[in-house]
Amino acid sequence: MPLCFPRQTVLTILSRFPRPADTLEQKAREYLQAISAQEADALWEQLCMRVLLSPVYLEALWPDVCAQHPNMQQLVKGLREQLWVPATMAQVETSSAQWVLEQGDADQPDTLMHQLLSYLSSANPVGDSSFGFLARYYTWRDLVVTQLVAPQRTELLDRVFSLLDMQNKHWGKPYCGGYAYQGYARIGLAGVKPTEVRLQAYGFTSWLKPAMSVLEIGCNNGFMAIELARHAGSVDAVEYNPFLVEIGRITAEALDQRNVHFEVADFSSWAPLKRYDVVLSFANHCTIDGNLSVEFESFVAKLWHLTNEDGWLFFESHNVFGPGAGTAGDDGDLDHKFDIMERYFELVDSKMTKAFVPSQDVDKLFVVLRRRSQVLPAVQRRMNLHEARKHYSYQGQPFT
Ligand SMILES: C[S@@+](CC[C@H](N)C(=O)[O-])C[C@H]1O[C@@H](n2cnc3c(N)ncnc32)[C@H](O)[C@@H]1O
Repeated sequence: MPLCFPRQTVLTILSRFPRPADTLEQKAREYLQAISAQEADALWEQLCMRVLLSPVYLEALWPDVCAQHPNMQQLVKGLREQLWVPATMAQVETSSAQWVLEQGDADQPDTLMHQLLSYLSSANPVGDSSFGFLARYYTWRDLVVTQLVAPQRTELLDRVFSLLDMQNKHWGKPYCGGYAYQGYARIGLAGVKPTEVRLQAYGFTSWLKPAMSVLEIGCNNGFMAIELARHAGSVDAVEYNPFLVEIGRITAEALDQRNVHFEVADFSSWAPLKRYDVVLSFANHCTIDGNLSVEFESFVAKLWHLTNEDGWLFFESHNVFGPGAGTAGDDGDLDHKFDIMERYFELVDSKMTKAFVPSQDVDKLFVVLRRRSQVLPAVQRRMNLHEARKHYSYQGQPFT
């Protein structure tokens, strides 16, 4: 029996937490409704082969089954390894096809695909503190979208997920349950924070000029840096986690974006000779992974030294609804932090930006600042967090 694309179930899953501005996702939805049953079934078979024969996707989508049945991943790994041996190739292909036929039938209650689709159709992300549901939900979304309407991106996306898998196995504190923190609609990756929509909300991308140099601190998987490099002269991006940097590098290469330069480094000891027109510090001044906890004035003073005369600092907060108790990720004490910040940088404007996921994230404050020509130890602070938290648009026009 050939496999059938469970169209209605997949469409229902896609519509649970949609990304309305993501054109590939919209295209995928429309395409799935428009194609013939025969075309859809052929695509389902390809998708099942991509997923069910990959130890990386097995672990990402069925973590519980993998934990209960470690032999399953071993079996699939074995199939992939033996595929290269001429004498066993035909047998391996037969066994692989058999495995995909057995487990890809979403109508049969005991199959992996049935179990996954039932879970993604009904589980509730709220209260799931480990990000477990959303990591699986978005991974599945990315696979479906690229399989349906961006086949040219499947190779890159599979490499990105392989690097995330290596990160999860070898890095202590991955963000977002091991899924991608930054997304990039251009390559079919939803991410927890979709880069293009996020940048549109900040509103500075089209203000950048080809003569400008940009530095991004803690660039994560580099998609923001790559996107900004399309508008600026050059972007340097520093990140502690080497697996994420490699994702940035392979993506920049795949997109032929040559004016972005990634560096694996600890920002607290990184000491470049260069200064930049625009410095980005997004949710970075005291990270919840514990890998960056420089005393706030030292952090700001370093940003000041890294910024050109008349240069700009764009700053994104951590949680401005926190108690302000000084722990990592808590910016409830942002007024106090800005007593320090505004000695070095003049506050130009700010706005709140919405979280993109249905749980596990909060709205953040985005702040536009301009470097002071000299540090003013006794300056009057303009930031008022209580007021700033109310505004979801700029008070003025910082980028005109
Ligand atoms: C909350 S995430 C923010 C990522 C990115 N700035 C964004 O807003 O999309 C913090 C990032 O800082 C990185 N990081 C943590 N400690 C660091 C350090 N000492 N030097 C450079 N990057 C660091 C983490 O690996 C992670 O990618």
